[in-house]
Amino acid sequence: MKISIASDHAGFEQKKELAAYLQEQGYEVLDRGPENDERVDYPDYAQKVAMDVSFGRADRGVLICGTGIGMAIFANKIPRVRAANVTSCQFAELARQHNDANVLALSGRFVELEDNKAILDTFLNTAFEDEGNPDGRHARRLQKLWPIEGQTLRRGQL
Ligand code: RB5
Repeated sequence: MKISIASDHAGFEQKKELAAYLQEQGYEVLDRGPENDERVDYPDYAQKVAMDVSFGRADRGVLICGTGIGMAIFANKIPRVRAANVTSCQFAELARQHNDANVLALSGRFVELEDNKAILDTFLNTAFEDEGNPDGRHARRLQKLWPIEGQTLRRGQL
């Protein structure tokens, strides 16, 4: 599985640790920056990961900023991206089982690294409940995103 990861300055330290953690486990990691903890604007980095997932250059994305909120808001504007801002393993599990989330947005300031590692493990190892079943209730609900995403695509924004 290929994973694209990025942060802003507030998530930089955890991004380094989480990228190494993923590599140790044999994942292919695309580190989209930043390269240091100088202040940056989180949308610039959320966009890199969201585009990787949207265009299939990565199977999953991981974003880390102060709260995870700003990066999730931005990533969710990109078609085919379903980003979840997660602070517990239970929410990571549900974000996969019910929402088929493909981007995980983490808090580098309010959640400890070890807890984020556990959240990441859960996110990567939990299946979507309706995988291969387009008539299932979760799949049916996600399909309601398609017309909205189609409008964005038709406007030529992506
Ligand atoms: C940066 O100070 C902070 O606003 C950012 O990391 C993030 O938490 C935004 O949602």
